[in-house]
Amino acid sequence: MARTLITNGTLISASGTSKADVLIDGETIAALLEPGQSTTLGIVADRVIDATGKYVLPGGVDAHTHMELPFGGTFASDTFETGSRAAAWGGTTTIIDFAVQTTGADVQESLAAWHGKADGECAIDYAFHQIVGGVDDQSLKAMRYLVDHEGISSFKLFMAYPGVFYSDDGQILRAMQTAADMGAMVMMHAENGIAIDVIIRQMLEKGQTDPRSHTDSRPVEMEEEATNRAILLAKVAKCPLYVVHMSAKEAVDTVARARDLGANVFGETCPQYLYFSYEEHMSRPGFEGAKYVCSTPIRRRSEGHQEALWRYLRTNDLSVVATDHCPFCFKEQKELGVGDFSAIPNGIGGVEHRMDTIYQGVVHGELSLARWVELCSTTPARMFGLYPKKGVIAPGSDADIVIYDPDAKTNISVKTHHMNMDYSAYEGMVIDGKVDTVLSRGTVVIENDAYKGRKGHGRYVRRGLSQYLL
Ligand code: URP
Ligand code: ZN
Ligand code: ZN
Repeated sequence: MARTLITNGTLISASGTSKADVLIDGETIAALLEPGQSTTLGIVADRVIDATGKYVLPGGVDAHTHMELPFGGTFASDTFETGSRAAAWGGTTTIIDFAVQTTGADVQESLAAWHGKADGECAIDYAFHQIVGGVDDQSLKAMRYLVDHEGISSFKLFMAYPGVFYSDDGQILRAMQTAADMGAMVMMHAENGIAIDVIIRQMLEKGQTDPRSHTDSRPVEMEEEATNRAILLAKVAKCPLYVVHMSAKEAVDTVARARDLGANVFGETCPQYLYFSYEEHMSRPGFEGAKYVCSTPIRRRSEGHQEALWRYLRTNDLSVVATDHCPFCFKEQKELGVGDFSAIPNGIGGVEHRMDTIYQGVVHGELSLARWVELCSTTPARMFGLYPKKGVIAPGSDADIVIYDPDAKTNISVKTHHMNMDYSAYEGMVIDGKVDTVLSRGTVVIENDAYKGRKGHGRYVRRGLSQYLL
């Protein structure tokens, strides 16, 4: 088996930084060595990567992506091939995508369909959560099967999108009871979709059709109320709860309160909620704001959401940064909503930019290096039962490694990104730092600004239960 030695780098883990060389044997990490120790021990490697001046960190784990998601009459524009390759470019070496079951469909068949999309296509390893869009006796039974036999230990439910993915409170409670019984996690899209649909109709009747009306139709209170309701339902069901894509500080306040009381409640946010605002992005002239339409929506900076989210990342009331990567092209996809903001497909593509954009938190003094790695790699791996295979550089773990150059710069543009989108939501952003080299299970997939991987290298990873539960 080929041996690789990464020398002279600064190792960043969730618990701190250290100087160490990393010895890789085949697909896994064989040893961490003190600088110079490889020479003393006479270790011979087939390949030596010099990481002088660079950070060496566990590959990113993006716990929330939607390749090819059907939404609003179209499909998210990245396939598993294009999206997983873009993830690798950005230093993410594992994605957890969502298999989708809609009302009336068979859960196991929908999971098989997702395997069909991903199998043999991915550049990096991948796992699945299961969306349960139709909670009934059959899907509850299937949840048990997925935990026991398919390596799927987390289920996404929706309090939003009535008629599409929506579950009522009774369905949510039943799914939570089933998950609790299995030790599985419920992931919640927490917005009051019934009330939001009323507001949307009223706004359209008044002729408010522009993209920024999307944010106006989904007030902070709709996220706050739904988050609080989900927390209380989870308490009744004794079920662990992970609230996805949080954007409103008042909603995270409710997560923080539940956590203070010792509940198994966790919050996730995404780079778009830290960087974009209603004032600057949603309100762009013409139809440009459509590029930023996602749910939960982008919030007003004047209300302090973005600042509060950074703070909550520090205090661990937000435990994970994922992308909710759900790209749609501007032409023909986002444009489906010209004249009716509610027909704009919801989602932003960003799987390629998570490690970089969150690294800016380190540059700007919002996060420590260790917290960067914890939020983007170690915690998502532990949260979703992938640890210690993923999320850590330690003997026996998969050799998923990012070598990050803090002195280089990254210019984000549609001209240079690798996602299958005709625009970049981050266009023109100049980032301090750059993904230099990426290894997936010991194989170099990104190096010298070139993609060296191949589709089909990425394997499906069966997950265990969350490792955060009491
Ligand atoms: O706008 C979003 N978030 N699109 C993806 C689907 C979802 O709700 O996560
Ligand atoms: Zn959602
Ligand atoms: Zn999502």
